[in-house]
Order: sequence, then structure tokens, then C-alpha cells
Amino acid sequence: MSTSLSSSVSRPSDQAPAVLRAHAETAYAAELDALAAADDRPRPERWRLSPWAVATYLLGGTLPDGTVVTPKYVGPRRIVEVAVTTLATDRALLLLGVPGTAKTWVSEHLAAAVSGDSTLLVQGTAGTPEEAIRYGWNYARLLAEGPSREALVPSPVLRAMAEGKTARVEELTRIPADVQDTLITILSEKTLPIPELGEEVQAVRGFNLIATANDRDRGVNELSSALRRRFNTVVLPLPATLDDEVSIVARRVSELGRSLDLPEPPSALTEIQRVVTVFRELRAGVTADGRTKLKSPSGTLSTAEAISVVTNGLALAAHFGDGQLRAGDVAAGLLGAVVRDPATDRLIWQEYLESVVRERTDWKDFYRSCRDAAAL
Ligand SMILES: Nc1ncnc2c1ncn2[C@@H]1O[C@H](COP(=O)(O)OP(=O)(O)OP(=O)(O)O)[C@@H](O)[C@H]1O
Ligand SMILES: [Mg+2]
Repeated sequence: MSTSLSSSVSRPSDQAPAVLRAHAETAYAAELDALAAADDRPRPERWRLSPWAVATYLLGGTLPDGTVVTPKYVGPRRIVEVAVTTLATDRALLLLGVPGTAKTWVSEHLAAAVSGDSTLLVQGTAGTPEEAIRYGWNYARLLAEGPSREALVPSPVLRAMAEGKTARVEELTRIPADVQDTLITILSEKTLPIPELGEEVQAVRGFNLIATANDRDRGVNELSSALRRRFNTVVLPLPATLDDEVSIVARRVSELGRSLDLPEPPSALTEIQRVVTVFRELRAGVTADGRTKLKSPSGTLSTAEAISVVTNGLALAAHFGDGQLRAGDVAAGLLGAVVRDPATDRLIWQEYLESVVRERTDWKDFYRSCRDAAAL
């Protein structure tokens, strides 16, 4: 017999395949274990950690035994406290904000810390059907045996209800309004009827739901007011200061670089500071010193995009340069992030380069690289 697919991809059992991106509960298992061991505060039923420990996991800290918990979210402590507390109540949590403000990131880490499982996820799109939130059927079994528990394919939300875990719904407002409304019964009655079986699944304690929605999508599908009332809304802001944003980018870039096996560069900080400064100035429509008004390009220029501009730059420096991140390595990425609509953004970028970047005496190399990239 020819080699089957499964045997050709099987590995020695002691060697787990290196996945491209581990789930938060796996990637940060050591921190979560240390927190659980140090945590002597009361935990809501089926929570892996107390609300205090969940907040510490997100915001970072040092435990009594010396374990350092890295900050996952950089931002106001109160926001995290309100988000965690909400999950311990009967209201669901809605994370709202402009693109790239870590809504998805925070939702994954909250689910990992609270339930030890961030995978019960529904990705919202204009085509998300009701089955993705309720349940579907294994049609072969349904036809052969008729409707039964075994033929039922539970959605991630249904599984979270049955197991008392945290469900996640990404991009809630992209889901058509009638499908969104499926959540109303789940969130208010904490039950999901299965008329085909004459049964219902009642949520057990520990179940809650985190939804994310993008500010810019507003108007795509408004949340109905009935559904909105089931949520506590927490708005995630853009990083307040340049230093905050630089530290977010630096931390994520070095984590991503390690997962891509890129060598740690001697110092990427200068370029990170410049990229973040450019992003913040263009976003705000005014230079950091408040003196020059600027036009803002059409792109969002989020922190997430700054992270990807710098990560791409590091890969360029590692593979085609001497490993040191230089202006030339980030210039092309920066151009791509700023110029989304060639008709208007190119002009805005050129104006910014000539009137602001050019005047900065310690930015000469940066100015030259950006000008060269724009001329290509
Ligand atoms: N305040 C912050 N603290 C820590 N990381 C942040 C912060 N803001 C952004 N990031 C980083 O930005 C990246 C992207 O965030 P994420 O994808 O969660 O954004 P989002 O708000 O879900 O965006 P979108 O609306 O496009 O879905 C993450 O890698 C995250 O680490
Ligand atoms: Mg997101």
C-alpha cells in the first residue's frame, strides 16, 4: 500500500510540530501557571484565575516568587479592570475601538486567562450564518439517523455555554442584523433552544462572551439596541503617548522577530521611534511640536501597521543587510502603509516629507530613504 497522508506527516510523539502561531494559553502557559499558583483570591466558578490575576496577566507584574509576568496590553489599568469584571457578571463584553487598538489581542488573552481556552471563536463577516452562532448538522448522520445529539454540530458559542467557558465573536457588526439577534436569547436567557430535538442547552456558570467591533465599521450593521443592552462596552483607545506606542511596537516586534527566527538587532529603537512618530503625526494631522498642520492620509496608520512595517524592515535587514535596522529597511513599508489611495495619499506623503521630515537635522538618512522609495 502507498504511504498514507497521516503517516507521511506523523512525527515522533515527543516532538510537537512547531506551529506558526501558538494560542495565547500555550504561548504564555508558564506565566498562566505561575499566576494560578500564586493566586489566592476567590475565583468565579470555572475561572482558571481570580479577576485580579487575570488583570495582572494582561497588564504585567512581578509575582511573590519572582516570576515576571510580561504586559500584554499597554494602556489604562482601569480599562482592563472593567473588562475583566464584566466577564464575571451576567453581561457580555464588547471591545470597541478604531482598527489596530488590540481588540482581538485583548479578547484572546482574556479568554486564555479566564477559561484557559481562546479557541472558541466565531469570525464575523457579512456571510456569517446563524449556524455559526447556534449549531449545524452533520448531514450524513442526520440523514442516516435523524436528528440526534450525535448529529448536532455545536458552534463555538454553544460549546462555551455547555462547558462554562468564554466564547469570542470577532467583528460583531459585520454580521447581518438578523444573525446578530441570535445572540439576544443566548445572552439574556442564557439558553439555546434546539427545537429539532425538543431540547435546550443551558449555559453553565463560567460562560460569557467577548465580542469585538471596529469603530470604522459603524453603519455597516449597527448593533440593535436590544443586543447592545446585553453588552458592557469598553472602548480601547489609541496609545496615549509616543513612548507608550514605541514600547508596544518594540515589544511586539521583538516577539514576532523571535518567532520568525530573526536575530535580535543591535538597536531598532531609532527607526521604531521615527516610524511611530510619522504614524502619530499623520494620524493627528499635526506635528509633534504642534507647529505644523498636516493632511491625514486615508489609511488608518494603526499601531498594528507600525508593528508590521518594522517587522518587515527587520526581515529585510536580516536577510539582505547587515542585521542593523536602518531607515532604508522601513522606507518602502512606510510608503505602503501611508499611500493607500494613490491619487490623494501620495501627495500628502510628499508634502510631509518635504515640509517636515526634510527639516529634521537628525533625520537626513530617513528623509533620503523615504524619498528614494517614493521615486521608485
Ligand atoms: N495598547 C496596546 N497594547 C499592546 N499591544 C497593542 C496595543 N495596541 C496595539 N497592539 C498590538 O497591535 C496588534 C494588533 O492588534 P489587534 O489585531 O488586536 O487589533 P484590532 O483592534 O483587533 O484591530 P482590527 O480592528 O483591525 O481588527 C497586536 O499585535 C497588539 O499586540
Ligand atoms: Mg481585530
